[in-house]
Amino acid sequence: MNRRSFIKKSSFAACACVGVSALGLLQSCEDSTAYDQNTDNDGDNDIQLSVDISQEPHRNLEVVGGTSVLGPNEIDSKGLLLVRTSEDDFKVLSRRCTHSSYSVNDFNSQGLAMCSSGHGGGFNANGNVVSGPPSASLSSYSSSFSNNILIISK
Ligand code: FES
Repeated sequence: MNRRSFIKKSSFAACACVGVSALGLLQSCEDSTAYDQNTDNDGDNDIQLSVDISQEPHRNLEVVGGTSVLGPNEIDSKGLLLVRTSEDDFKVLSRRCTHSSYSVNDFNSQGLAMCSSGHGGGFNANGNVVSGPPSASLSSYSSSFSNNILIISK
């Protein structure tokens, strides 16, 4: 497959990634946006993001249960929550709240991603509603993983 690649890397503030939540999730950095964006030119308009989990700010994903976050990007204008669910599998969730489309924050120390609206909406690491008015789970995206590179596709 022919690919036209370009890199959209933004700088990110150094942050301390600390804490193991009650659910065994590592708390990840806020507003981490380091990724590569690839689009193919085969006419199907696929969009892919690649995230190197061996690099900050995504190194929390090196262990099962680790989480990280991406800011707004070409796949999702609200950004993405990343969760490593096994050695080879990741869950990639939209940060668009299913109540009124406010942004969902990164996972907190309890392993919950709370909506920024103040309405009380919260989601677990599977993207399922755990509190507040949302009635639907966060939407998810497909991904693949090899050699420390997580590929997210839309
Ligand atoms: S927009 Fe998220 S709880 Fe209302």
